[in-house]
Order: sequence, then structure tokens, then C-alpha cells
Amino acid sequence: MKENLLEKVVSLCKRRGFIFQGSEIYGGLAGTWDYGPLGALLKRNVVDAWWKKFVSAREEIYALDSAIIMNPKVWEASGHVSSFSDPLESGERFNVMFKTSVGAGEEATDSYLRPETAQGMFVNFKNIIDSFHPSLPFGTAQIGKVFRNEIAPREFLFRAREFEQMEIEYFVRENEWEKHFEEWRKEMLDWTLSIGLSKDKINELEVPEEDRAHYSRRTIDFEYDFPFGRKELYGLAYRTDFDLRSHQNKSGVSLEYFDESSKERFIPHVIEPTFGLDRTILAILCESYTEDELGGEKRTFLKLVDDLAPVKVAVFPLLKNKLELVNKALEVHAFIKKSIPNTEFDDNGNIGKRYRRQDEIGTPYCITVDFETLENDTVTLRDRDTGKQERLKINELVSTL
Ligand code: GAP
Repeated sequence: MKENLLEKVVSLCKRRGFIFQGSEIYGGLAGTWDYGPLGALLKRNVVDAWWKKFVSAREEIYALDSAIIMNPKVWEASGHVSSFSDPLESGERFNVMFKTSVGAGEEATDSYLRPETAQGMFVNFKNIIDSFHPSLPFGTAQIGKVFRNEIAPREFLFRAREFEQMEIEYFVRENEWEKHFEEWRKEMLDWTLSIGLSKDKINELEVPEEDRAHYSRRTIDFEYDFPFGRKELYGLAYRTDFDLRSHQNKSGVSLEYFDESSKERFIPHVIEPTFGLDRTILAILCESYTEDELGGEKRTFLKLVDDLAPVKVAVFPLLKNKLELVNKALEVHAFIKKSIPNTEFDDNGNIGKRYRRQDEIGTPYCITVDFETLENDTVTLRDRDTGKQERLKINELVSTL
């Protein structure tokens, strides 16, 4: 089953409208991908779950949504201009930031599309302090697009040139960094399990000094067993006070924190949990892709965690040419959709085909309106993973689901 898993996932994504090659009708553009209707919903569900866990549920994390194009001095201070490069075959270093030009004519200045969301949070550190007066530890979080001119984009969403990150910069006292590093390590593992990844496919790698980013004194990579090997999914880094101190030096603006109780001024240190959104989607798709046999027939289904499924419930009339059944199913569909918005109605093809279609996109539940429904207001509720059906009263459906 796991043979050619990546090819199978890519093919399902295209066939069922999850993910398409970017600019496909022009032959594509390497390293770019477009999320179709179901992929966009899946991605949104991942973003919502992440936001809920790491931002809404916590008091000390501040949301941010900073600009993609920043003053080029940001990238000089951060070390990206001098260090964010990969070796070419010739042995030369190639800086992977995307250059762009801002403004017209003589006024034009060169800048870059951000290669990480992190710097938008560091340059807003003073704004957060001045507006909210948080006490340490506190964090900032944001989700957004980043751009890297990767020399060799590959493995579907894994290495793209345009992708999204979900990042947290967590500001702490220097002497407490290890404690917070451990806390975030647990939080990150907890997250990977909550989105349905299996624990035995996750590996925590202590990154040796020579492989760490220029800003990091300690990094743990959360690796995932992708079909093409064990590869980095997420990272947790101790960035020390490197970024704030560099920005303070370059901008001449104080980025110190004033501790009311001790009356001390100092630059906080930073723990950074970073999550690639597209790698998350790829891991979820690879993990959930399942083939089995049901009722003597082969089928493919996505074993998605309920919260992440693009469509939560599908409602069918048993037969599409019986008007009473169709009308009743439309009524049930409208009723459920009020409480569960991502509910679909389908009367195309025969009932077996409809179940297969929903299985393939990971819909956890299907409801069928049949002749018995017309007599006693009950329907069948089918479970995606087992294919088992139970009969329920229509007015019990929403609470059961
Ligand atoms: N702010 C820290 C930072 O950007 P990184 O390890 O360079 O660290 C963070 O990137 C995460 O972004 C990675 O763990 C990975 O999930 C994702 N990522 C990095 N490069 C990527 C690429 N070319 N395509 C897709 N995702 C990528």
C-alpha cells in the first residue's frame, strides 16, 4: 500500500480538487502549488486548529499579521543577506531570498520577499511592549506566506518556493530558556498528534551545531517519516537575543524590556517553534491516505481527524429519481447545514459511488435518506472508517455528530 504513496497522494489531490500544480495550463512554475476547493478547506481547518491551540487558548500570545515586504535593512540585521544561502554545484553560494524592487524609477529600492515570518515579529517587539505592556514570558504568533528561491524544489509540497509558515516567537528571561524550550517541545509534539500524525512516525532530532541556522544555539527538528524518507517537518530553535540585539544595533532603537519588579532593563531571549503549513498538509495527506477492502471492493479513503475534514457530513437520497426521497434529503441537508456548515448534498450516481467519493475526500459521516425515512423520520448514519451504518432519528443527528 505504501508503495508509490507520494504519487498516489499527488494524484488524489489533483483528481479530487485538493491541490493543483501552480500555473498548470502554462506548464506550471516549479515550486508553486495552488490549493483547490477541498485543499483550501483542509488548509483553513489546519490554520484554525493551530490558531485555537496556540493563540486563542493562551493569554500570553499576541497575534500579528505583518507585511511580506520589509525594509531591506531588516534582512541585513537578521543575517539573511550574508548567510541565507545554499551551495550551488559549482561551489558558489546562492542566496535564496527573492529579490524585488519597490517603487518606480529613480525612487526604486531593492528589497526581498520575506523568507520567514519571524522578522515581522521581531521588528514589532517594541510596538507590542508599548501597546500591551506584557510581562515575560510572552509570545507573538503569525501565519503567512514566505518565499525562498530554492535551488531544487521537490517532493510536492515539501520543498516549495512559495509556502506558508505558522510561527511563534516566545520571549523569555535568559536564565529560563531551557525550561521554556522543554515546554514548547511538548506542545509541538502534542500538536503533531492532535492532527492525526502517528507518534512512531515522528522523530525529534537534536541538530548538531554545524547544521544549525546562524541564529540558533539549540535546535530540535521534528522529523516525519514521509514516503520519500525521514525529513524535517517542524523546528524548535533557541534564537537567544540574536535578532532583537541585531535590530537594536542596526536601527538604533532600544529593544529592551523593562522589568517592573526588579527595575532591570534587558533584551529578552527567544524560543521559536516554527511550523510549515504546507508540510503539515503533506504529512496529513500521507498519513491519512488509506486503501482497504470494504464489502469485497477495494477502496481509497482519507482517514482525516474529524476537525480537519473539508466536508464533515454528506447527505444522500437513496435513489435520485424518487422525488419524495430527494426532497426529504434536501430537507435533512438544510437542517444539518445550519449547525454543521460544511455539509454536502449529493445525488449523483448510485449510492455506493457516492460513499466512495466521500471516503476519498475524507468525509467522516454520510447520511442516507431511504424509504423508511418517509415512514418514521429515521436515517442511516455511516462511519467512513468502518463503513458501519446505524439508524438514527433525524432530530438526534446533530447532537450525535
Ligand atoms: N523562522 C524559522 C525558520 O524559518 P526554517 O527551518 O527555515 O526556520 C521553518 O523553516 C519551517 O518552514 C520548516 O520546519 C518547514 O516546515 C517549512 N519550510 C522550510 N522550507 C520550506 C520549503 N522550501 N517548502 C515548504 N516548507 C518549508
